[in-house]
Amino acid sequence: MTTVVTDNCDLCRFTDCVTVCPMVCFHGDDKMLYIDPVVCIDCGACLPVCPVRAIYEVKNLPPEQHEWIAINATRSAALPLVTDKAQPLPGALDRKKQLGF
Ligand code: F3S
Repeated sequence: MTTVVTDNCDLCRFTDCVTVCPMVCFHGDDKMLYIDPVVCIDCGACLPVCPVRAIYEVKNLPPEQHEWIAINATRSAALPLVTDKAQPLPGALDRKKQLGF
């Protein structure tokens, strides 16, 4: 089991999650972050800090979101680590509102 980032992160990239991760397992591109399942210890610390609830433990992942397990694994392996809080993407607050948060 691990923890995965899902599509609510896309175009938000609030990065609050990286500030609480004890294992440094977030990797990112210019749109969103992904969790390295090899490094993640499934502590759950990042779940409550994401403003758009993009992060799930796999055991609680809705069936229609299961593709994100493989996406997190492949993308995290190919992308650089993200360890510092950064400005959200332009439009992130609008997207947050659209998502109902
Ligand atoms: Fe994305 Fe939420 Fe982290 S928007 S960057 S998973 S705090």
